Amino acid sequence: MKTILITGCSSGFGLEIAKHFLDRDWKVVATMRTPDPEVLPSSENLRILPLDVTDAASIAAAIREAGPIDALVNNAGIGLLNALEGTPIGKIREIFETNTFGTMAVTQAVLPQFRERRAGVIVNVTSSVTLKPLLLLSIYTASKAAVNAFTESLALELAPFNIRAALVLPGQAPDTRFADNARALMLGIPEAYDDLAQKVFTGWAESTDPKTKSRDVAEAVWSVVTDPAAPSFLPAGPDAVAWAAAR
Ligand SMILES: NC(=O)c1ccc[n+]([C@@H]2O[C@H](COP(=O)([O-])OP(=O)(O)OC[C@H]3O[C@@H](n4cnc5c(N)ncnc54)[C@H](OP(=O)(O)O)[C@@H]3O)[C@@H](O)[C@H]2O)c1
Repeated sequence: MKTILITGCSSGFGLEIAKHFLDRDWKVVATMRTPDPEVLPSSENLRILPLDVTDAASIAAAIREAGPIDALVNNAGIGLLNALEGTPIGKIREIFETNTFGTMAVTQAVLPQFRERRAGVIVNVTSSVTLKPLLLLSIYTASKAAVNAFTESLALELAPFNIRAALVLPGQAPDTRFADNARALMLGIPEAYDDLAQKVFTGWAESTDPKTKSRDVAEAVWSVVTDPAAPSFLPAGPDAVAWAAAR
């Protein structure tokens, strides 16, 4: 039986990915900043471990505790919608610490065991916002686009060790806690950008385009992890698929 470790399993995509693999007879190490066993069905194949991807000691402890794993999903992430002018540099660093450096740090921590076994797959969850520029998302997009570039280059250096590194790019998914979590991080959009912000909010409210479901993301991750022939750059959800096709 194979084992997968997933970051950010307390809600949204991470939670759905964990359930998807548990239902298909994988051992799942579901990691969360604050472990909550209530969110997942109890199973002898499930372990819940604390992991904050911005904390080196927490990463080391979780990877040690997890033991051998076959697949890693870097899913933990935070959003931010604001103008550059309204975003203090500390907040920008916070976004990169989680979305970008967190992904790199957890990947670094699992690589020795993958390399020694000459096997393993890493899936980095980025976003369809990297496929098309959007208003007031410069920082978030940059943090995810960096992971795209990082992953594509990393895949080349890991291929000789039979380790795969791939990207899943979800579209907009209003059913996760993402928007609420991002709102909590917003410090107020500067007045000069009010009209632009209004345009964004009206666009969301009026949009009837199909959106991404957590299930779309879980299925994309499943296909990348279990099928070595799966694309290493995989949009997930109808909106993400349409944007990728239009590029
Ligand atoms: N929803 C969307 O529209 C959308 C679209 C494209 C891509 N994405 C990406 O998909 C991923 C999952 O997002 P989601 O929509 O499922 O949002 P979500 O429901 O807010 O889930 C995000 C998860 O990341 C965790 N997290 C945040 N900071 C962390 C840290 N420092 N260490 C460990 N875990 C941390 C959160 O844990 P806590 O409970 O501890 O906060 C939560 O479990 C993110 O990378 C996001 O950028 C989302």
